[in-house]
Amino acid sequence: MSFTIPPSPPARPNRCQLFGPGSRPELFEKMAASDADVINLDLEDSVAPDDKDAARKNVVAAINDVDWGKKTLSVRINGLDTPYWYRDVVDLLEGTKGRLDAIMIPKAGCAGDIYAVDALVSAVEAATAKDKRIGFEAIIETAAGLAHVEEIAAASPRMESLHLGPADYAAYMGMATTHIGGTQSNYYMLSPKEAEGERQVHYADPWHYPIVAIVAACRTHGLLPVDGPFGDFSDPDGFKAQALRSATLGCVGKWAIHPSQVALSNEVFTPSDAAVEDARAIIAAMDQAKAEGKGAVTYKGKLIDIASIKQAEVIVKQAEMIAAR
Ligand code: COA
Ligand code: MG
Repeated sequence: MSFTIPPSPPARPNRCQLFGPGSRPELFEKMAASDADVINLDLEDSVAPDDKDAARKNVVAAINDVDWGKKTLSVRINGLDTPYWYRDVVDLLEGTKGRLDAIMIPKAGCAGDIYAVDALVSAVEAATAKDKRIGFEAIIETAAGLAHVEEIAAASPRMESLHLGPADYAAYMGMATTHIGGTQSNYYMLSPKEAEGERQVHYADPWHYPIVAIVAACRTHGLLPVDGPFGDFSDPDGFKAQALRSATLGCVGKWAIHPSQVALSNEVFTPSDAAVEDARAIIAAMDQAKAEGKGAVTYKGKLIDIASIKQAEVIVKQAEMIAAR
């Protein structure tokens, strides 16, 4: 496939996905009124086992009754290792009238998981004569999910995005942490030992590897890579630091588990005016270079070449898509 152009991801803004438990219907109108590009109504881990049936009914009613505007509307179903997931799929598809855009599959472990949900969704869509195809979002949050990330990305034409779920990921990997994302106090390196000098602590990013693996799988198969939740919603600086690093690594957005995180995420994942201006200037400088028969030139004291056009186009395209929303 290396002489072909990789497929493009869905052309829609996905800067922030706001979650809310299906068992708290009083939040639904507030979620619909938020500035999040994507809404995820949750039937999985924010809903207690005794509330599963009620949450499913709340969510079906809300999909039909609430005005979700132009938002992408998704529901996180229960995992395939539970007795709930098939009923989630059937009731969502039989009970709603076409507003639902996507289903989020948690704890995806292999292509077969996606295939199983696809088979059930396809059957109910056919039986109910739906003319809209539901898309899939999958969460990479188990050791198996990370090991099989690429086959999961390629598992179905319904696949639209992959997400890192740091809490389950940490649990399945046996990581010694109970935080949901963010800096981990025991994950650091010390600066070299120098005579009598203080040694500095350098915190590293324990989520770097799964994020990069997700971005690579997504960019290969035309999906949107999205960073998951940051649990400490009282720490906006920590959220922003994590979001900035995901944006730098290629993610297009991040989850919000509290409304205070929506504006932060939108800010980080919307290219700034200065970045867009710079990107346009790089494209113009390269147009000029091409006209002069050059492949590489100097721009503001730095090398730019043909690869710089592609980098700049990523930023301009993202800004144009958000502006057109
Ligand atoms: N979406 C929209 N509005 C929300 C919201 C959400 N997810 N969570 C809270 N709000 C609203 C509250 O209703 C409140 O509104 P008000 O000012 O009109 O009273 C306001 O935002 C402030 O809420 P706050 O009191 O700080 O939060 P809380 O104690 O009600 O709830 C959480 C805190 C974390 C339990 C709640 O935000 C939540 O359930 N988040 C989503 C969890 C989830 O879905 N997890 C699954 C993915 S990891
Ligand atoms: Mg999880």
